[in-house]
Parts: sequence; structure tokens; C-alpha cells
Amino acid sequence: MKDLRGRVAVVTGGANGIGLGLAERFLQEGMKVVIADINEQDLARAEQSLAASGEVLAVTTDVSREDSVQSLADAAVARFGGVHVLCNNAGVGGTQRFDTVGQATWEWTIGVNLWGVVHGCRIFLPILAAQDEAYIVNTASMAGFTSGPYQATYKATKAGVVALSECLANEFEIEYPHVGVAVLSPAYTSTSIRNDERNAPPGHIPRAVADPRLNERRESVYSTLEQEGISPAEIAGMVVAGMAARKTHIFPHPQWFEAWQQRVDKVRSQL
Ligand SMILES: NC(=O)c1ccc[n+]([C@@H]2O[C@H](COP(=O)([O-])OP(=O)(O)OC[C@H]3O[C@@H](n4cnc5c(N)ncnc54)[C@H](O)[C@@H]3O)[C@@H](O)[C@H]2O)c1
Repeated sequence: MKDLRGRVAVVTGGANGIGLGLAERFLQEGMKVVIADINEQDLARAEQSLAASGEVLAVTTDVSREDSVQSLADAAVARFGGVHVLCNNAGVGGTQRFDTVGQATWEWTIGVNLWGVVHGCRIFLPILAAQDEAYIVNTASMAGFTSGPYQATYKATKAGVVALSECLANEFEIEYPHVGVAVLSPAYTSTSIRNDERNAPPGHIPRAVADPRLNERRESVYSTLEQEGISPAEIAGMVVAGMAARKTHIFPHPQWFEAWQQRVDKVRSQL
């Protein structure tokens, strides 16, 4: 999908980080943009900052809820008449030992990271398929390709997003050839993801309380991504280029491929 001008993009998790970077870039490309986010305060601030660059609609949305994603789709169509690019980008999750993760935390993480993407793909597909050309970009993570310790909730959901996206890319080549599907799999990116627990449901026990033993490791991950991570604007540029090249995989950090290769080698060694 090369020509974005005048087309409509919906970005979930659009109030911060990578989602906000995508929204900014899409507006620069001449698109109309719908930003969807669970955090009303951040959403209002993002809408205000984006408004000078083009047509923006902000819709408070909890992607883990089917009815909320349906309302988002209805609002986007009511305002702009259709949708051409859907970025299922909202995500949460962090570093925690498996035996300290409670049921509410599992449900929250699976709800946002995996159900959020499923709801987006399923509910928006008829709207996307009605256009001459469309694209779905699902944000996974390099964590969806690697299997180191202490990120079971995050890696399980992100591996699910990779599998779902690849499956849809292959299936839509047959069923909806004008609807492309890509999975965006970054490693460290400078965003506000350390604040993700602000939007957690009441049953979630903060990681620092449930698993204080990993506080140092967690802090090291957050400070590395904040200080050494690439910018959301760079990621957004790669997404635009990836759609133009009709890519299925967008890898902002190819240097992480070695970690994936090690995993493949480990599996092969057991054949
Ligand atoms: N930052 C990184 O290093 C990194 C690396 C790989 C992948 N990712 C992925 O990138 C995506 C964006 O994360 P980010 O780093 O920009 O984080 P961020 O916290 O800056 O932005 C995420 C946004 O999602 C919103 N959100 C959370 N729950 C939601 C829900 N239920 N419904 C709607 N919106 C919700 C938050 O309010 C926030 O505005 C996530 O899927 C994340 O897993 C991030």
C-alpha cells in the first residue's frame, strides 16, 4: 500500500509511544487518523497535540472488550466513512516470575495483547475489505520470537500475535488479496510502557509488590528501552515503508535475529 494520502488509519494505544508515533506519521502522510486508547487523559492530550497536523478523531477504547472495539469501528466509519489501515498496537506486560503472576494479571495481559488484536482484526475486516486497498499492522515484539525467562505473559501473548498475523497474511492472500497483513516486532523502543500498570484492572497485583525480587531486572529493562531504544518516529517510518513494500514482517531491530537463531538452533538440536 503505497498511496496513503486521503486514506483513514485507526491506531489503538494511540495516546502514547509507538501508537502516537504512528498517528503522527500517518497525519504527515496526509491520512485522517483515529486514535483509540483506554487512558482518557492521555488520549485528550494526544488529540490536542495531533489536531494541528490534520483530521483526528479520539475514541476512548478498551481493546480487550469486543463491544468497545465495535464502538470504535462504528465511530471511525461514522466520522470518516471507512478505514484503510488498522494498527492493533495497544499492549501491556512486563518482567515477572511465572510463579508470582496471578489470574487477574494473566487475563489482563491476554485480554489487551491477544484478544485486543483478535477483536481488531475480526471487527474491522469487513470495513477494510470494502476498500480498494487496506492493511492491518499488528504490534507484536521481538519477545514473540524469543523465549528467555521471566516474561511468560508477555512472550506467550506476543508469540500469539506473530502466529495470528502470519496466518492471516497467508489466508488473506487467498481470500482478501487487497488486504495486507504485517506484524511489527520491535525490540527496545523509547516509550512510556513502564507506566502500563496504570490501566490494569483492580485484581492485578503490581509487579513491584508481587515480585520485588525482580525489581532491579525490571528497572534495567525500562531504563535500557528509554535510554537506548529507537524512537517511535523511526518505527513509524518503517511501518510506512513496510506497507509500501507489502511486507508481512517489519523488524526494526534486525540485530536481535541472533537471539531468534539461537532458539531455532536449540529446537533443531533436539530433533
Ligand atoms: N517499548 C518497547 O520497547 C516495545 C518493544 C516491543 C513491542 N512493544 C509493543 O509496542 C506496543 C505499544 O507499546 P509502547 O511501548 O508504545 O507503550 P506505551 O505504554 O507508551 O503505549 C501503549 C498505549 O496503549 C494503551 N493501552 C493500554 N491498555 C489498553 C487497552 N486495554 N485498550 C486500549 N489502549 C490501551 C496505553 O494507555 C498506552 O497509551 C505494545 O503492544 C508493546 O507491547 C513495545
